[in-house]
Amino acid sequence: MQFAKRLQPLQFNVFADMDKAKAKALAAGRQLIDLSLGSADLPAASHVVDAIAQSLYDHNTHGYLLFHGTQGFRQAAAQWYEQKFGTAVDPETEVLPLIGSQEGTAHLPLAILNPGDFALLLDPGYPSHAGGVYLASGQVYPMPLRPENDFLPVLADIPTPVLAQSRMMVLSYPHNPTSAIAPLSFFQEAVAFCQQHNLVLVHDFPYVDLVFEEKEIEDSKSIAPSILQADPQKTVSIEFFTLSKSYNMGGFRIGYAIGNGELIRALRQVKAAVDFNQYRGILNGAIAALVGPQDSVKVSVDKFRQRRDVFVNALHRIGWQVAIPKATMYVWAKLPQPWSQNSVEFCTQLVEKTGVAASPGAGFGKFGEGYVRFALVHEPGILETAVSRIAEFL
Ligand SMILES: Cc1ncc(COP(=O)(O)O)c(C=O)c1O
Repeated sequence: MQFAKRLQPLQFNVFADMDKAKAKALAAGRQLIDLSLGSADLPAASHVVDAIAQSLYDHNTHGYLLFHGTQGFRQAAAQWYEQKFGTAVDPETEVLPLIGSQEGTAHLPLAILNPGDFALLLDPGYPSHAGGVYLASGQVYPMPLRPENDFLPVLADIPTPVLAQSRMMVLSYPHNPTSAIAPLSFFQEAVAFCQQHNLVLVHDFPYVDLVFEEKEIEDSKSIAPSILQADPQKTVSIEFFTLSKSYNMGGFRIGYAIGNGELIRALRQVKAAVDFNQYRGILNGAIAALVGPQDSVKVSVDKFRQRRDVFVNALHRIGWQVAIPKATMYVWAKLPQPWSQNSVEFCTQLVEKTGVAASPGAGFGKFGEGYVRFALVHEPGILETAVSRIAEFL
């Protein structure tokens, strides 16, 4: 059988190799501590689950859901955004429900790129961003993220011929995997750059709430900026949100895009050929999450902060001096010798010998090599055990 050429770049996937290594460790009787996936182990709030459960018994929720039927959800998302960031959003033209934010960021390149066009992506970055570009027969230009630049790309370094053929730039802060936060001043620079070079500016923002500010945040306002704060007229920008992280709803597959009306319309056109929106019952749960009590968000953030402290302190005690993340559910750790250029080998051996699974930095791009990402998706006691096993391994 012959398959399309666009599948070829999707075949290199170090996470598939890691899955094999995990299976091997399990078969050898190791007790797995899986810190490789950013899938929260915490439950969705009960008022959210109740809203979904009640919807199941309402047969009016069982049919196809056309765009018009998503109005309540779009209004809830617009209200949520306005409360958090103070910018007005039109729920009719500037909000689009998604089947998880990954669905949206992966489909958007189909609306923007012609074959061969470049997308400027963060490296290291979330692998699906590149996947979406490849599915649209585009080319990826990786913008290196280096610790000396606080893991922000240097826009002036993008070569002119690449820029001439580029149609979009994808940012994502707080950043997976490095945990870096971008200041508003960087977003302002990025907006001006994209306006100047006629680029669409995409901001993937799943960790909007997962920020560990030491002082209390007034009115639950986020300290991680939104790209639309730097582009309040929504001239070039579109931002992607998810309920997977803030509301522990990853399995429910619900997210949304907010931004420039033309971009929203274009993405809607692509999606209209692909899906009929998420199930209405899940939209009802998402409305309950967005407009209902927000205490569960704070509970999650406090838990991840506590886990971060336990895990990072334990690593420091065994002599691994990792940076303390200010956001996200990840620890991005520079590998010690002799692993400093072989993250896949480190992770494969670590899981096979100790049962502790982590993600190799190389899986997030060329400039992720030399690092490993730990996801803090277990309780503190288990994280301590993981570090003891890592210590033995090292
Ligand atoms: C940067 C980034 N974007 C998107 C996603 C996936 O979000 P969703 O569950 O809404 O598809 C993740 C999940 O880890 C992520 O880290």
